Amino acid sequence: MATAELAGKHLVLGMTGGIACYKIAELTRLLTKAGATVQVAMTEAATQFITPVTMQALSGHPVYTSQWDARIDNNMPHIDLSRTAQAIVIAPASADFLAKLAHGRADDLLSTLCLARDCPLLVVPAMNRQMWANPATQRNVAQLRADGVVVLGPDSGAQACGEIGDGRMLEPQATYEAIASFFQPKCIAGRRVLVTAGPTFEPIDPVRGLTNRSSGKMGFALARAAQQAGAEVRLIAGPVSLDTPWGVVREDVETAQQMYDAVMQSAADCDVFIAVAAVADWRVDQASADKIKKTADGRVPSLAFVENPDILATVAQLPDAPYCVGFAAESSELEAHAQEKRQRKGVPLLIGNLGPQTFGRDDNEVVLVDASGTTRLARMDKNALAAALIREIARRLPDASLIS
Ligand code: CTP
Repeated sequence: MATAELAGKHLVLGMTGGIACYKIAELTRLLTKAGATVQVAMTEAATQFITPVTMQALSGHPVYTSQWDARIDNNMPHIDLSRTAQAIVIAPASADFLAKLAHGRADDLLSTLCLARDCPLLVVPAMNRQMWANPATQRNVAQLRADGVVVLGPDSGAQACGEIGDGRMLEPQATYEAIASFFQPKCIAGRRVLVTAGPTFEPIDPVRGLTNRSSGKMGFALARAAQQAGAEVRLIAGPVSLDTPWGVVREDVETAQQMYDAVMQSAADCDVFIAVAAVADWRVDQASADKIKKTADGRVPSLAFVENPDILATVAQLPDAPYCVGFAAESSELEAHAQEKRQRKGVPLLIGNLGPQTFGRDDNEVVLVDASGTTRLARMDKNALAAALIREIARRLPDASLIS
């Protein structure tokens, strides 16, 4: 997340009383690091869990806790604070505060701010599982959703009270991702996008195998960007140690054949297939069931290979094939190789870069090759590039004009 993807965004971060207040310190850091201006307002109860001084230091702005704050010239902090905000995020949102919001009450600074707002309201509930499951809370949440309030989470799992269930606040990173996603234009809304990412691993024996240096970062960034742009995303990943992007369904595989099988299961149900994985071209014929041992005479083993199926080319040939996008890292003559590969694979769009020096890097520079020629994009970090590529893909889709 090196990108300042929330640059220019002004958020009011409203905190209500709950032990999850400790998570907001980290959330504030993530939001400010991404370029957002964060104005914190806390209820009296929230200040019992974390101090305004901490939140002031992290956000870099004075924290407001009272309706009667003399620091605001016109003495109308509820108007003043919400006027410049592009969104109000209530995190953690207690059961009591959700009830207040659902009924339009305005008896403290934060509830007044929410009622007097002219911007979207996002709430991140955090409470004990029984409070969350209570019909009154569920009724309030349903009412808030009907009023257009965006409800993020809650999560399920161990709770501060020692119980296990629904009601935990989303982790700071997940909350950050959901907020970042909220702000992205929904250029690929409603489409089902299937992405492959990472390397594959082809076993030689139970302890050895062949793989490559793909980090999976570009494929994961594309899955994240497609989700943020409104798509329903399924990610089929080779062995990588990357977190699953928020809101993305992930399936882990190891070999090229497993990736092929997983893709074929989902290919008929997707509108766009983006093949980013660095799939092994060959696998070892008859991998050994036992570890291959050294021999006393120093004889080295020889390996026989068989070709793996070409996943992208196979999907592109399906009747009613999804819109297929390939990736290619070439070591020379990028544009010529990419155009030839696009035609050979039978895909409308191929994204090429000069690799393998891009493997593992956080930025990338690519060319887009389609039937009309080549478009070069400037060097960008992988998240910004992924968002740009999703826009490029979205506008090339057959009925793109139907999508906002
Ligand atoms: N690909 C695939 N299945 C394979 C091999 C490649 O789906 N078995 C996809 C990759 O995910 C990528 C594109 O095809 O989107 C191009 O991959 P690349 O390895 O460059 O293609 P190859 O056909 O293997 O070409 P080369 O001979 O240059 O290795």
